[in-house]
Amino acid sequence: MTETSDLETLESDILKAIDAAGDLNALEEVRIGALGKKGMVSKQMQRLGSLAPDERKAFGQSVNQVKTRVTEALEGRKATLEEIALEKRLASETADITLPVRPGPQAEGRIHPVSQVMDELAEIFADLGFSVAEGPDIESDDYNFTKLNIPEEHPSRQDHDTFYFKPDEDGSRLVLRTHTSPVQIRTMLKQKPPIRIIAPGRVYRCDSDQTHTPMFHQIEALVIDQETHMGHLKWVLIEMCKAFFEVDEVKMRFRASHFPFTEPSAEIDIGADAIGKPGEWLEIGGCGMVHPNVLRNCGLDPDVYQGFAFGMGIDRMAMLKYGIPDLRAFFGADLRWLKHYGFSVLDKPTISGGSSG
Ligand code: PHE
Repeated sequence: MTETSDLETLESDILKAIDAAGDLNALEEVRIGALGKKGMVSKQMQRLGSLAPDERKAFGQSVNQVKTRVTEALEGRKATLEEIALEKRLASETADITLPVRPGPQAEGRIHPVSQVMDELAEIFADLGFSVAEGPDIESDDYNFTKLNIPEEHPSRQDHDTFYFKPDEDGSRLVLRTHTSPVQIRTMLKQKPPIRIIAPGRVYRCDSDQTHTPMFHQIEALVIDQETHMGHLKWVLIEMCKAFFEVDEVKMRFRASHFPFTEPSAEIDIGADAIGKPGEWLEIGGCGMVHPNVLRNCGLDPDVYQGFAFGMGIDRMAMLKYGIPDLRAFFGADLRWLKHYGFSVLDKPTISGGSSG
Protein backbone atom coordinates (compact mmCIF):
# COMPACT_ATOMS: atom_id res chain seq x y z
CA MET A 1 0.00 0.00 0.00
CA THR A 2 2.91 2.32 0.59
CA GLU A 3 3.52 2.39 -3.15
CA THR A 4 0.03 3.81 -3.76
CA SER A 5 0.31 6.58 -1.18
CA ASP A 6 3.80 7.37 -2.55
CA LEU A 7 2.24 7.71 -5.95
CA GLU A 8 -0.44 10.05 -4.62
CA THR A 9 2.15 12.34 -3.06
CA LEU A 10 4.21 12.23 -6.22
CA GLU A 11 1.21 13.18 -8.32
CA SER A 12 0.13 16.05 -6.11
CA ASP A 13 3.73 17.37 -6.02
CA ILE A 14 3.90 17.32 -9.79
CA LEU A 15 0.49 18.97 -10.20
CA LYS A 16 1.54 21.73 -7.80
CA ALA A 17 4.75 22.25 -9.78
CA ILE A 18 2.69 22.48 -12.99
CA ASP A 19 0.43 25.12 -11.49
CA ALA A 20 3.42 27.05 -10.24
CA ALA A 21 5.22 27.09 -13.61
CA GLY A 22 5.28 30.78 -14.55
CA ASP A 23 6.22 30.40 -18.20
CA LEU A 24 6.58 27.83 -20.98
CA ASN A 25 10.24 27.14 -20.21
CA ALA A 26 9.54 26.41 -16.56
CA LEU A 27 6.65 24.16 -17.59
CA GLU A 28 8.90 22.21 -19.95
CA GLU A 29 11.31 21.58 -17.08
CA VAL A 30 8.49 20.21 -14.95
CA ARG A 31 7.43 17.94 -17.86
CA ILE A 32 10.95 16.54 -18.25
CA GLY A 33 11.27 16.08 -14.49
CA ALA A 34 8.02 14.07 -14.47
CA LEU A 35 7.59 12.28 -17.78
CA GLY A 36 11.10 12.46 -19.30
CA LYS A 37 13.14 9.25 -19.59
CA LYS A 38 14.63 9.76 -16.16
CA GLY A 39 11.59 11.55 -14.79
CA MET A 40 9.83 10.64 -11.59
CA VAL A 41 6.81 8.96 -13.18
CA SER A 42 8.99 7.00 -15.58
CA LYS A 43 11.06 5.76 -12.63
CA GLN A 44 7.92 4.37 -10.99
CA MET A 45 7.31 2.34 -14.13
CA GLN A 46 10.77 0.86 -13.91
CA ARG A 47 9.95 -0.44 -10.40
CA LEU A 48 7.31 -2.80 -11.85
CA GLY A 49 9.84 -5.54 -12.43
CA SER A 50 10.72 -5.76 -8.75
CA LEU A 51 7.12 -6.22 -7.60
CA ALA A 52 5.29 -9.42 -6.90
CA PRO A 53 3.17 -10.52 -9.88
CA ASP A 54 -0.18 -9.90 -8.09
CA GLU A 55 0.82 -6.31 -7.22
CA ARG A 56 2.24 -5.59 -10.61
CA LYS A 57 -1.04 -5.13 -12.50
CA ALA A 58 -2.73 -2.77 -10.04
CA PHE A 59 0.43 -0.69 -9.60
CA GLY A 60 1.00 -0.48 -13.35
CA GLN A 61 -2.52 0.79 -13.83
CA SER A 62 -2.13 3.39 -11.10
CA VAL A 63 1.12 4.71 -12.58
CA ASN A 64 -0.54 4.94 -16.01
CA GLN A 65 -3.41 6.91 -14.53
CA VAL A 66 -0.98 9.31 -12.88
CA LYS A 67 0.76 9.70 -16.22
CA THR A 68 -2.51 10.52 -17.96
CA ARG A 69 -3.54 13.09 -15.37
CA VAL A 70 -0.11 14.72 -15.37
CA THR A 71 -0.15 14.89 -19.18
CA GLU A 72 -3.59 16.52 -19.13
CA ALA A 73 -2.52 19.01 -16.50
CA LEU A 74 0.59 19.86 -18.55
CA GLU A 75 -1.50 20.49 -21.64
CA GLY A 76 -3.99 22.63 -19.75
CA ARG A 77 -1.26 24.75 -18.21
CA LYS A 78 0.50 25.07 -21.55
CA ALA A 79 -2.64 26.43 -23.19
CA THR A 80 -3.10 28.94 -20.38
CA LEU A 81 0.53 30.10 -20.54
CA GLU A 82 0.36 30.50 -24.33
CA GLU A 83 -2.74 32.61 -24.02
CA ILE A 84 -1.07 34.82 -21.42
CA ALA A 85 1.99 35.22 -23.67
CA LEU A 86 -0.21 36.20 -26.64
CA GLU A 87 -2.15 38.75 -24.55
CA LYS A 88 1.14 40.26 -23.49
CA ARG A 89 2.39 40.55 -27.10
CA LEU A 90 -0.86 42.03 -28.34
CA ALA A 91 -0.75 44.63 -25.59
CA SER A 92 2.81 45.67 -26.45
CA GLU A 93 2.62 45.53 -30.27
CA THR A 94 -0.14 47.98 -31.07
CA ALA A 95 -0.57 49.65 -34.46
CA ASP A 96 -2.40 52.96 -34.67
CA ILE A 97 -4.34 52.68 -37.92
CA THR A 98 -5.65 56.23 -37.57
CA LEU A 99 -2.18 57.68 -38.31
CA PRO A 100 -1.77 59.23 -41.79
CA VAL A 101 -0.07 57.09 -44.48
CA ARG A 102 3.66 57.76 -44.82
CA PRO A 103 4.38 58.83 -48.44
CA GLY A 104 6.21 55.97 -50.16
CA PRO A 105 8.33 55.88 -53.32
CA GLN A 106 5.15 56.19 -55.46
CA ALA A 107 4.70 59.73 -54.17
CA GLU A 108 8.36 60.61 -54.79
CA GLY A 109 8.77 59.34 -58.37
CA ARG A 110 7.64 61.35 -61.38
CA ILE A 111 6.44 60.39 -64.86
CA HIS A 112 8.48 62.15 -67.57
CA PRO A 113 6.40 64.57 -69.71
CA VAL A 114 7.23 62.49 -72.83
CA SER A 115 5.82 59.33 -71.21
CA GLN A 116 2.86 61.29 -69.94
CA VAL A 117 2.06 62.66 -73.42
CA MET A 118 2.45 59.18 -74.96
CA ASP A 119 -0.03 57.82 -72.40
CA GLU A 120 -2.42 60.70 -73.05
CA LEU A 121 -2.29 60.18 -76.82
CA ALA A 122 -2.70 56.40 -76.51
CA GLU A 123 -5.78 57.07 -74.39
CA ILE A 124 -7.23 59.57 -76.88
CA PHE A 125 -6.62 57.32 -79.90
CA ALA A 126 -7.92 54.24 -78.09
CA ASP A 127 -11.17 56.17 -77.68
CA LEU A 128 -11.21 56.69 -81.48
CA GLY A 129 -10.74 52.95 -82.06
CA PHE A 130 -6.97 52.85 -82.68
CA SER A 131 -4.67 50.23 -81.23
CA VAL A 132 -0.97 50.63 -80.44
CA ALA A 133 1.63 49.09 -82.80
CA GLU A 134 5.38 48.93 -82.32
CA GLY A 135 8.56 48.55 -84.33
CA PRO A 136 12.24 48.35 -83.43
CA ASP A 137 14.54 51.39 -83.08
CA ILE A 138 17.11 49.58 -85.24
CA GLU A 139 15.35 49.27 -88.58
CA SER A 140 16.21 48.00 -92.04
CA ASP A 141 17.03 50.53 -94.73
CA ASP A 142 14.26 48.81 -96.71
CA TYR A 143 11.50 49.55 -94.17
CA ASN A 144 12.80 52.97 -93.13
CA PHE A 145 13.16 54.18 -96.75
CA THR A 146 12.69 51.91 -99.76
CA LYS A 147 9.25 50.46 -99.02
CA LEU A 148 8.12 53.97 -98.08
CA ASN A 149 8.74 54.97 -101.69
CA ILE A 150 12.12 56.55 -100.93
CA PRO A 151 14.42 54.71 -103.34
CA GLU A 152 18.26 54.69 -103.19
CA GLU A 153 19.61 58.08 -104.30
CA HIS A 154 16.34 59.83 -103.43
CA PRO A 155 17.25 63.31 -102.11
CA SER A 156 15.01 62.99 -99.05
CA ARG A 157 17.38 60.33 -97.72
CA GLN A 158 19.87 63.15 -97.17
CA ASP A 159 17.28 65.28 -95.34
CA HIS A 160 16.99 62.65 -92.69
CA ASP A 161 20.59 62.86 -91.38
CA THR A 162 20.53 59.11 -90.90
CA PHE A 163 22.70 57.13 -88.48
CA TYR A 164 23.77 54.16 -90.60
CA PHE A 165 25.21 50.85 -89.39
CA LYS A 166 28.05 49.16 -91.31
CA PRO A 167 26.62 47.44 -94.41
CA ASP A 168 26.36 43.61 -94.41
CA GLU A 169 28.30 41.47 -96.91
CA ASP A 170 25.28 41.52 -99.24
CA GLY A 171 25.23 45.33 -99.12
CA SER A 172 22.06 45.65 -96.99
CA ARG A 173 22.36 47.96 -94.02
CA LEU A 174 20.56 48.76 -90.84
CA VAL A 175 19.74 52.26 -89.65
CA LEU A 176 18.50 53.90 -86.48
CA ARG A 177 14.98 54.65 -87.66
CA THR A 178 14.66 58.29 -88.68
CA HIS A 179 10.88 58.34 -88.22
CA THR A 180 8.07 56.07 -86.98
CA SER A 181 6.76 55.59 -90.55
CA PRO A 182 8.41 52.13 -90.98
CA VAL A 183 5.80 50.89 -88.48
CA GLN A 184 3.25 51.61 -91.25
CA ILE A 185 5.07 49.06 -93.43
CA ARG A 186 5.37 46.49 -90.65
CA THR A 187 1.67 46.81 -89.90
CA MET A 188 0.46 46.56 -93.51
CA LEU A 189 2.70 43.56 -94.15
CA LYS A 190 1.25 41.58 -91.29
CA GLN A 191 -2.33 42.82 -90.88
CA LYS A 192 -5.26 42.89 -93.31
CA PRO A 193 -7.32 46.12 -93.63
CA PRO A 194 -9.25 47.73 -92.05
CA ILE A 195 -6.21 49.05 -90.16
CA ARG A 196 -6.27 51.68 -87.44
CA ILE A 197 -3.04 51.97 -85.48
CA ILE A 198 -0.82 54.46 -83.74
CA ALA A 199 2.88 53.90 -83.17
CA PRO A 200 4.64 56.06 -80.58
CA GLY A 201 8.39 55.71 -80.14
CA ARG A 202 11.96 56.94 -80.37
CA VAL A 203 13.49 58.16 -83.61
CA TYR A 204 17.03 59.30 -84.43
CA ARG A 205 18.63 61.94 -86.64
CA CYS A 206 22.19 63.18 -86.61
CA ASP A 207 21.20 66.70 -85.66
CA SER A 208 21.64 68.72 -82.48
CA ASP A 209 20.89 72.32 -81.50
CA GLN A 210 18.46 74.16 -79.24
CA THR A 211 15.39 72.68 -80.92
CA HIS A 212 16.85 69.37 -82.16
CA THR A 213 18.24 66.39 -80.27
CA PRO A 214 19.78 63.30 -81.95
CA MET A 215 17.05 61.17 -80.36
CA PHE A 216 13.48 62.40 -80.14
CA HIS A 217 9.95 60.99 -80.13
CA GLN A 218 7.24 60.71 -82.75
CA ILE A 219 3.79 59.24 -82.91
CA GLU A 220 2.64 57.73 -86.18
CA ALA A 221 -0.95 57.02 -87.15
CA LEU A 222 -2.14 54.83 -90.00
CA VAL A 223 -5.66 54.15 -91.23
CA ILE A 224 -6.33 51.86 -94.21
CA ASP A 225 -9.80 51.00 -95.46
CA GLN A 226 -11.80 51.00 -98.67
CA GLU A 227 -13.32 54.46 -98.50
CA THR A 228 -10.84 56.53 -96.55
CA HIS A 229 -10.31 60.16 -97.57
CA MET A 230 -8.71 63.45 -96.49
CA GLY A 231 -11.88 64.43 -94.60
CA HIS A 232 -11.34 61.50 -92.24
CA LEU A 233 -7.73 62.54 -91.77
CA LYS A 234 -8.70 66.12 -90.88
CA TRP A 235 -11.44 65.00 -88.52
CA VAL A 236 -9.17 62.63 -86.61
CA LEU A 237 -6.46 65.29 -86.25
CA ILE A 238 -8.91 67.93 -85.08
CA GLU A 239 -10.58 65.61 -82.57
CA MET A 240 -7.19 64.51 -81.31
CA CYS A 241 -5.99 68.08 -80.81
CA LYS A 242 -9.17 69.13 -79.01
CA ALA A 243 -8.89 66.19 -76.62
CA PHE A 244 -5.13 66.63 -76.17
CA PHE A 245 -5.15 70.39 -75.49
CA GLU A 246 -8.42 70.05 -73.55
CA VAL A 247 -10.20 72.79 -75.50
CA ASP A 248 -13.57 72.92 -77.32
CA GLU A 249 -12.22 74.50 -80.50
CA VAL A 250 -8.84 74.30 -82.11
CA LYS A 251 -7.65 76.13 -85.21
CA MET A 252 -5.81 73.88 -87.62
CA ARG A 253 -4.08 74.56 -90.92
CA PHE A 254 -2.95 72.08 -93.55
CA ARG A 255 -0.03 73.41 -95.61
CA ALA A 256 0.70 71.63 -98.89
CA SER A 257 3.97 69.78 -98.57
CA HIS A 258 5.79 66.77 -99.91
CA PHE A 259 6.57 63.36 -98.46
CA PRO A 260 7.48 60.49 -100.79
CA PHE A 261 5.15 58.11 -98.92
CA THR A 262 1.99 60.26 -99.07
CA GLU A 263 0.12 61.90 -101.93
CA PRO A 264 -1.21 64.49 -101.42
CA SER A 265 0.90 65.53 -98.42
CA ALA A 266 0.50 68.33 -95.93
CA GLU A 267 2.17 69.83 -92.95
CA ILE A 268 -0.05 70.25 -89.89
CA ASP A 269 -0.08 73.59 -88.06
CA ILE A 270 -2.18 74.44 -85.06
CA GLY A 271 -3.29 77.90 -84.05
CA ALA A 272 -1.33 78.79 -80.95
CA ASP A 273 -4.40 80.54 -79.47
CA ALA A 274 -5.05 77.27 -77.69
CA ILE A 275 -1.86 77.75 -75.71
CA GLY A 276 -2.21 81.49 -75.21
CA LYS A 277 -0.28 82.83 -78.23
CA PRO A 278 -2.98 84.35 -80.45
CA GLY A 279 -2.18 84.82 -84.14
CA GLU A 280 0.75 82.38 -84.20
CA TRP A 281 0.88 79.02 -85.97
CA LEU A 282 2.89 76.06 -84.77
CA GLU A 283 3.88 73.05 -86.82
CA ILE A 284 3.19 69.74 -85.11
CA GLY A 285 3.77 67.17 -87.85
CA GLY A 286 3.22 65.86 -91.36
CA CYS A 287 0.39 63.91 -92.94
CA GLY A 288 -1.19 62.75 -96.17
CA MET A 289 -2.95 59.99 -98.07
CA VAL A 290 -0.82 56.84 -98.24
CA HIS A 291 1.00 56.75 -101.61
CA PRO A 292 -0.21 53.98 -103.98
CA ASN A 293 3.38 52.73 -104.29
CA VAL A 294 3.55 52.20 -100.53
CA LEU A 295 0.31 50.20 -100.61
CA ARG A 296 1.68 48.12 -103.51
CA ASN A 297 4.97 47.55 -101.67
CA CYS A 298 2.91 45.99 -98.87
CA GLY A 299 0.81 43.81 -101.15
CA LEU A 300 -2.33 45.99 -101.05
CA ASP A 301 -4.22 46.95 -104.20
CA PRO A 302 -4.47 50.78 -104.39
CA ASP A 303 -7.61 50.46 -106.49
CA VAL A 304 -9.32 48.79 -103.54
CA TYR A 305 -7.68 50.38 -100.51
CA GLN A 306 -6.83 53.92 -99.55
CA GLY A 307 -5.63 55.29 -96.31
CA PHE A 308 -4.07 58.18 -94.49
CA ALA A 309 -1.09 58.56 -92.23
CA PHE A 310 0.40 61.22 -90.05
CA GLY A 311 3.45 61.62 -87.89
CA MET A 312 3.85 64.13 -85.08
CA GLY A 313 6.64 65.17 -82.74
CA ILE A 314 5.74 64.09 -79.22
CA ASP A 315 8.39 66.24 -77.56
CA ARG A 316 7.06 69.29 -79.37
CA MET A 317 3.50 68.50 -78.27
CA ALA A 318 4.64 68.12 -74.66
CA MET A 319 6.46 71.47 -74.80
CA LEU A 320 3.35 73.16 -76.22
CA LYS A 321 0.88 71.66 -73.79
CA TYR A 322 2.93 72.03 -70.64
CA GLY A 323 4.84 75.22 -71.44
CA ILE A 324 8.30 73.65 -71.34
CA PRO A 325 10.79 76.00 -73.01
CA ASP A 326 13.93 73.96 -73.73
CA LEU A 327 13.91 70.62 -75.58
CA ARG A 328 17.37 69.61 -74.40
CA ALA A 329 16.24 69.59 -70.76
CA PHE A 330 14.00 66.64 -71.66
CA PHE A 331 17.05 64.41 -71.88
CA GLY A 332 19.23 66.01 -69.22
CA ALA A 333 18.23 63.51 -66.50
CA ASP A 334 18.01 66.39 -64.01
CA LEU A 335 15.87 65.31 -61.08
CA ARG A 336 14.99 68.88 -60.12
CA TRP A 337 13.61 69.43 -63.64
CA LEU A 338 11.66 66.17 -63.46
CA LYS A 339 10.21 67.12 -60.06
CA HIS A 340 9.00 70.38 -61.57
CA TYR A 341 7.68 69.17 -64.95
CA GLY A 342 6.94 65.51 -64.16
CA PHE A 343 3.61 63.90 -63.29
CA SER A 344 2.42 61.90 -60.32
CA VAL A 345 2.57 58.15 -60.85
CA LEU A 346 -0.92 57.79 -59.46
CA ASP A 347 -2.56 60.27 -61.90
CA LYS A 348 -3.38 58.14 -64.93
CA PRO A 349 -4.53 60.11 -67.99
CA THR A 350 -8.15 59.39 -68.89
CA ILE A 351 -10.53 60.90 -71.41
CA SER A 352 -13.25 61.38 -68.82
CA GLY A 353 -10.90 63.20 -66.46
CA GLY A 354 -9.46 65.47 -69.21
CA SER A 355 -6.58 63.74 -70.95
CA SER A 356 -3.88 65.03 -68.59
CA GLY A 357 -5.55 63.24 -65.67
N1 PHE B 1 7.56 60.58 -91.30
C1 PHE B 1 7.37 61.99 -91.51
C2 PHE B 1 8.48 62.76 -90.79
O1 PHE B 1 9.16 62.19 -89.98
C3 PHE B 1 6.02 62.45 -91.01
C4 PHE B 1 4.88 61.84 -91.75
C5 PHE B 1 4.30 60.68 -91.32
C6 PHE B 1 4.35 62.47 -92.89
C7 PHE B 1 3.22 60.13 -92.01
C8 PHE B 1 3.32 61.93 -93.57
C9 PHE B 1 2.73 60.78 -93.13
O2 PHE B 1 8.68 63.92 -91.02
